[in-house]
Amino acid sequence: MESLTVELGSRSYPILIGDGLIRDIGAHVAPLLKRPRTMIVTDTHVAGHYLTPLGTSLAMENISFSSFVLDPGEGTKSWAGLARLTEWLIGEGVERGDHVIALGGGVIGDLVGFACSIVKRGCNFIQVPTTLLAQVDSSVGGKTAINVAAGKNLIGAFHQPALVVIDPTTLETLPRRELGAGYAEVVKYGLIDDAGFFAWCEEHGAALLAGDSEARHKAIAHSVAAKARIVAADERETQDIRALLNLGHSFGHALEAETGYSDRLLHGEAVAAGMVLAHQFSAANGLCPAADAERVRSHLASVDLPHSLASAGVNSDGATLAGHMAHDKKVRGGKLPLILTRGIGQSFVTEDYGLDAVAAFLDGQASVHR
Ligand code: NAD
Ligand code: GLY
Repeated sequence: MESLTVELGSRSYPILIGDGLIRDIGAHVAPLLKRPRTMIVTDTHVAGHYLTPLGTSLAMENISFSSFVLDPGEGTKSWAGLARLTEWLIGEGVERGDHVIALGGGVIGDLVGFACSIVKRGCNFIQVPTTLLAQVDSSVGGKTAINVAAGKNLIGAFHQPALVVIDPTTLETLPRRELGAGYAEVVKYGLIDDAGFFAWCEEHGAALLAGDSEARHKAIAHSVAAKARIVAADERETQDIRALLNLGHSFGHALEAETGYSDRLLHGEAVAAGMVLAHQFSAANGLCPAADAERVRSHLASVDLPHSLASAGVNSDGATLAGHMAHDKKVRGGKLPLILTRGIGQSFVTEDYGLDAVAAFLDGQASVHR
């Protein structure tokens, strides 16, 4: 088992990574509990695979638990989902000192984290992420939220977990398409500031996606360490450090909005195409070598991820796409900070480019790389 810490002073917490850890989780949870009782929240897909092993492991430590199983999917991260979950937690007699376990992907993690930030003015929670996206990104860092009619993740809070337990073997039941979407977030860490890790992805990404356990472990541990470092440096995204985690997200957000935030394009798939567009936009503006942008496109294409507007299933004009970006929640004083790059592993935040320039660039991308 590997262990690292997110260094946040009194809110620091460990991240444990190990194959089979879900069957051993009770021993790691027990020392945190003020009373031998916990509540598990999950979705129906994940419950079918992992609720019993997790529960058995808690029982072995004499920890009693109850469980709440929600519908899978983004729709659960809603006011209705939040109401049901908070009412259930109150009904279960949750106490401020308790630790609620979020077992699942980013939907369950974000919802449970937010519920735990408000129920009884705040209780503790433990992340047990079971998607690659959640294992390398959403379970670490304390961003919690639900979606509302006006947009995704618009109501939420920063609320750090008390512990993150990552069992990479849970990915063996994850659909291949979801694995690919999470892999885009792995590649992102290389593109942000770690050219060596991007080169590693080029060499080992296909093996990871085919189920190679060594490659999977290395990718998760490396990604989580990068995320922990970034969160420790800029927990609340006030210094243009954590913002780098949004590489590809502004372009990706436009693609997600255009495809209706639906199964047509998963979040990680939109991020993949968005990262290519961010590199190509940087190259078009003389910031980044065109060869680097092509390397990024070629790697993501080689693992069957969207790598262009066309392969993301979008054929809208630039003004429409840029219009979606104008509604991004990252807009500051009317300007959208873009994450651009000087080359692989050299990303930065800038407000130097207006949405009209982005729209013109996207018009030029409409017919390439089908
Ligand atoms: P998800 O939670 O919807 O999971 C994807 C699908 O996989 C679901 O159907 C789920 O039931 C299923 N599943 C999960 N684990 C499984 C397993 N091991 N085996 C079989 N099926 C499994 O999606 P996600 O991609 O994990 O998370 C997306 C969410 O994360 C979005 O709401 C996004 O906004 C959020 N997010 C949050 C942050 C953050 O920092 N808080 C960062 C990135 C994304
Ligand atoms: N996934 C973006 C962040 O945690 O900041």
